[in-house]
Amino acid sequence: MPCWITWVNKMAVGLEQVFNVTPALVKDCYYIVDQTRPGEATVLYNTLREDVERRGHVMFVFNGTAFPLGFIKGQILRIPDFKSVGVVGIQSKIDYLFVDKKYQRAGIGALLLRAYESYCRDNGVGNIILYSAPTVQATGFYAKNGYVRMNGNLLMAKVLGMSSH
Ligand SMILES: CC(C)(COP(=O)(O)OP(=O)(O)OC[C@H]1O[C@@H](n2cnc3c(N)ncnc32)[C@H](O)[C@@H]1OP(=O)(O)O)[C@@H](O)C(=O)NCCC(=O)NCCS
Repeated sequence: MPCWITWVNKMAVGLEQVFNVTPALVKDCYYIVDQTRPGEATVLYNTLREDVERRGHVMFVFNGTAFPLGFIKGQILRIPDFKSVGVVGIQSKIDYLFVDKKYQRAGIGALLLRAYESYCRDNGVGNIILYSAPTVQATGFYAKNGYVRMNGNLLMAKVLGMSSH
């Protein structure tokens, strides 16, 4: 297990895999999402809680000293959904990745992505797909981390090798 993941101590700064989605955590995540994509807190609460606790989705947060600064959530797909990407073994899909505006461009997004990719490798995932936000910020971030645009649209994919990139 990579040493930068802190598993239990909520106050420790660093990455933590989330197993129980509490109202307090969703409030923090909602605050982060709402900065760029205003929406409904209840919807996010139900989505995160049900996806993680009932549908087996995977979630990591990056904790600051008092509250999370970013989070990622995705799922391993039992049946490959994105045949156009070229199915290489098991597929996984990222559906949330957000970093608090004040803490962007400090490497937190890349750390969250690497934790997710590492989890996927450990579970035999061959490629990861996602729909990027239609911004230079998001597409640039994913391109820098090895994701390629499929057919010129916002669907992006990465074939996982054995190393971290
Ligand atoms: C995309 C996002 C998760 C990146 O998180 P981050 O912690 O800032 O990312 P990192 O610090 O690890 O990586 C920074 C890289 O991302 C890209 N990037 C980040 N902000 C950017 C911006 N405003 N303009 C262009 N590229 C940008 C660049 O490649 C940058 O590398 P550089 O600083 O060397 O130029 C974050 O900007 C975010 O939450 N955006 C809003 C929500 C969103 O778009 N989520 C993804 C949609 S699926």
